[in-house]
Amino acid sequence: MQKILVWDWPVRLGHWLMVGGFIIAWLTAESETFRLVHAVSGGIVLAVATFRLPWGFIGSRYARFVDFVRGPTALKAYAAGLLKLEPAHHVGHNPAGGWAIILLLGLGILTGLAGWANYNDLGRNWLEELHEGLAATMLTVIIIHLIGVASGSLLHGENLVRTMITGFKSGLPEQAIPSARPIAAALLLIWVAAASWWIAN
Ligand code: HEM
Repeated sequence: MQKILVWDWPVRLGHWLMVGGFIIAWLTAESETFRLVHAVSGGIVLAVATFRLPWGFIGSRYARFVDFVRGPTALKAYAAGLLKLEPAHHVGHNPAGGWAIILLLGLGILTGLAGWANYNDLGRNWLEELHEGLAATMLTVIIIHLIGVASGSLLHGENLVRTMITGFKSGLPEQAIPSARPIAAALLLIWVAAASWWIAN
């Protein structure tokens, strides 16, 4: 085993943009003064999540949904290992984490769309309630996600937060991705900037 590149640039950049976007949107949710900041930061979460969907099909090996969206059998096997405190090591996302990711991306899109409609006065009270309910559900999944990241880091003796920053994890040389895909990351930034500009204007 050695340090190999696993997470490409769009995955890492997208992840931390989502984290920043979600935190700022949550902190400004009740403020009239920061209404625009709230809308733009929510828009960043929406933009990253919508970029991540096609990237889940055309992205690098571990970014692809086929690599980490697994059925009930794989999920049960992973949970059984987790209960014995010996979860199987996965170079990419593990089967439980994979479903949390799908939920986070789905909720990021739904919350963002409901918020956008709300911001443009397209609905009434029910839309505001829906937006808030979705955001609260997202926070719950984020807390579960963070518990998963912390327990995975402890049980595997591998700092997963650092891996999401550097892109490097332990693995065999043949398991490494060949490129960090910087051009796709530049496209992600353009997409996020365009969405922010569109919301702000
Ligand atoms: C400070 C808080 C957070 C930390 C430390 C953190 C950490 C991580 C780590 C370490 C991974 C990789 C897990 C693995 O090795 O399989 C990951 C994946 C992921 N996290 Fe977070 N996370 C945080 C907050 C969030 C938030 C707020 C969101 C959503 C708004 C989020 C969405 C995701 C998604 C979608 C992935 C999958 C990345 C991809 O494949 O594109 N995370 N996170």
